[in-house]
Amino acid sequence: MFDYYGLMKKFMFNFSPENAHHIAEFFFKNGAKFTPFILSPLAEHFYIHDKRLEQELFGKTFHNPLGLGAGFDKNATMIKMLTALGFGHIEYGTMTPEPQSGNPKPRCFRFPEQESIQNAMGFNNEGMYKIGKRLESLYPFATPLGANIGKNKVTSAENALKDYEKLIKRFKDLSDYLVINISSPNTPGLRDLQNEQFIKDLFVMVKELTDKPVLLKIAPDLAINDALNISSTALENGAYGIVATNTTIDYSLLPNAKDFGGISGKVLTEKSFSMFEALAKEFFGKTTLISVGGIDSADEAYRRLKAGASLIQVYTAFIFKGPSLNRSINLGILERMEKDGFSHISEVIGSDRR
Ligand code: FNR
Repeated sequence: MFDYYGLMKKFMFNFSPENAHHIAEFFFKNGAKFTPFILSPLAEHFYIHDKRLEQELFGKTFHNPLGLGAGFDKNATMIKMLTALGFGHIEYGTMTPEPQSGNPKPRCFRFPEQESIQNAMGFNNEGMYKIGKRLESLYPFATPLGANIGKNKVTSAENALKDYEKLIKRFKDLSDYLVINISSPNTPGLRDLQNEQFIKDLFVMVKELTDKPVLLKIAPDLAINDALNISSTALENGAYGIVATNTTIDYSLLPNAKDFGGISGKVLTEKSFSMFEALAKEFFGKTTLISVGGIDSADEAYRRLKAGASLIQVYTAFIFKGPSLNRSINLGILERMEKDGFSHISEVIGSDRR
């Protein structure tokens, strides 16, 4: 088949990553609004809906295990088109209580040879009131939606809990699950909240605010033991699951890396997998695990599922490979299931742990 995405990528990569993103957002948003008749043929092609991949999670039906990681649709403007492009769930955000513009530009860099990205966006988003308004006219939506939430840059560590309280109240009825983001490297001090006391206080508060599943997203740069302890604390205090991982600050992974921001994509694959696997060894069967970080093929997706992921997410590989990736990952999972004699995805998930 003609490589449409290859051609589009050639054009889009003439722009800075951030401008290319704005162009894509313009077309995704307005395409769904003004030419809605294109959604269903697109979904026909890209959206894999197969009973063998279907799961009930968070009180919703997930038609396939592959979702879009947080940070692509920060303002929840592209949900309809992203569903048509094949994502079985979409995590929108990160949203903060107040709108904020993020870090100074340039703050996002492509490394095409390594199929990786380095970003220091810093939670640029329209804020919870405006984004919530947008979702009020969309939610509930057929495709499961996750709300990824983070504190404002100007909010001190002492007041961070208050930010998360506001955000949970705002998005608990506008999402099927929520994710607490304290693992972005681009908000000064945010990762320091990955400590047991804060996490305990946070999830004790969460329980009082909502019955919705609230998960914790963690960084790949934590020492494994710290990651296990933090996750234990979160789970003991009511967290519904763990999302691993966010971007890394291991700048040795890329030649000519900047000395700021977080790295994602192919060079993150092994680091993210080892963190995920360590968590899965401890928590598989006791909680819901989502794996994200350097997934770019059906092989890698299948490895994460077997390691214990109920869901997987992509971001960077979607930029480099386009929506055909979604189709090929889901079809590739089905092929591998047939080869291994699995008749349903539930048999694949955690098969390495049994
Ligand atoms: C991200 N990521 C991210 N994560 C998050 O929880 N909130 C966010 O706002 C963002 N923003 C963001 C912006 C950009 C430009 C990138 C590339 C990434 C992290 C993302 O969700 C994911 O965890 C990592 O990128 C690892 O997955 P991939 O990209 O290797 O598939």
